Amino acid sequence: MLRRLHKDQPDHFAFTDANLAWAEAQIKKYPEGRQASAIIPLLWRAQEQEGWLTRPAMEAVAAMLDMAYIRVLEVATFYFMFQLQPVGSVAHIQVCGTTSCMICGAEDLIGVCKEKIAKRAHDLSADGKFSWEEVECLGACANAPMAQIGKDYYEDLTAARLGEIIDEMAAGKVPVPGPQQGRYAAEPAGGLTSLKDHESGRAKYNASAQAAVDIGDTIKRIDGTEVPLLTPWIAAGDTITKSREAEVKTLARSKEPASSEAKAKKIARPEQGSVAPEGAKPAGFGEARGGQADDLKKIKGVGPKLEKLLNSLGFFHFDQIANWTADEIAWVDDNLEGFKGRVTRDEWVAQAKVLAD
Ligand code: FES
Repeated sequence: MLRRLHKDQPDHFAFTDANLAWAEAQIKKYPEGRQASAIIPLLWRAQEQEGWLTRPAMEAVAAMLDMAYIRVLEVATFYFMFQLQPVGSVAHIQVCGTTSCMICGAEDLIGVCKEKIAKRAHDLSADGKFSWEEVECLGACANAPMAQIGKDYYEDLTAARLGEIIDEMAAGKVPVPGPQQGRYAAEPAGGLTSLKDHESGRAKYNASAQAAVDIGDTIKRIDGTEVPLLTPWIAAGDTITKSREAEVKTLARSKEPASSEAKAKKIARPEQGSVAPEGAKPAGFGEARGGQADDLKKIKGVGPKLEKLLNSLGFFHFDQIANWTADEIAWVDDNLEGFKGRVTRDEWVAQAKVLAD
């Protein structure tokens, strides 16, 4: 779409004192030599002051920012937010004509604009109160068709409703923006089909916010209530019975904030600063038997880093790992800095048995 300057331009532009002070404050936000970064806010302020963006206003902004006028012109002609010709004194209506809106009736909305405002986009209505144009997607496709009027979006429009909105604005009223056919936001027009916990009252908050409230902790989510329970502070070999699993599941799903009683029911984990389960350090070697270590990376979940770490702890062979007891697994799980719990999580012992055989 061609965006050109209007043929009739005023002779002069100057910011009001208040706007000038505001503009100078904006420029100060940027480091010396980067004043051009303030171009959008300054052009916007000029448009807000005058109603549209005049050539003298662009020239004044270029001078303030020490920019070539052509650079300012490039910005002003690129963005639809800048009006390059006079607009209606009450409202300028920007109808989205892109795919979703077009399929859902944008052409009917444009028909209303042509009928009620002016045949051609950017022409003023006879009383000078309104103007309109078709614009590209405004990012409210789920509520198509829609139009931006001033700073607000009017969504889920019909031709009849847009006509009413124009009439209401002409009468000095303020039609409520947003969806115009009863939707709260962008939920399915026929009502929610998923994520219904909020509607049904099952959950007060959304998704992870509810999880935080349920767990009673916004910082540390890994606290033993996860299922499956494969956490390093639970001693290896600690059998999680079905009833225990059900208990933690119930706790995690509870919609009430975790009470102190519920918290107490959580599987005990060491508080900060307290002593973690120690387990027993498995016997290790100073070096690999016969100077030939097994390739521990064959154990799923062990990479080069972990292999190095295991070697540094004295573990070089599959049969060493295959013979770890529950206590020893707990010790290793707890001493794998950066990889705690991996022995249990990836079932190293079972894997090592197969590899040793
Ligand atoms: S297509 Fe109209 S808002 Fe995206």
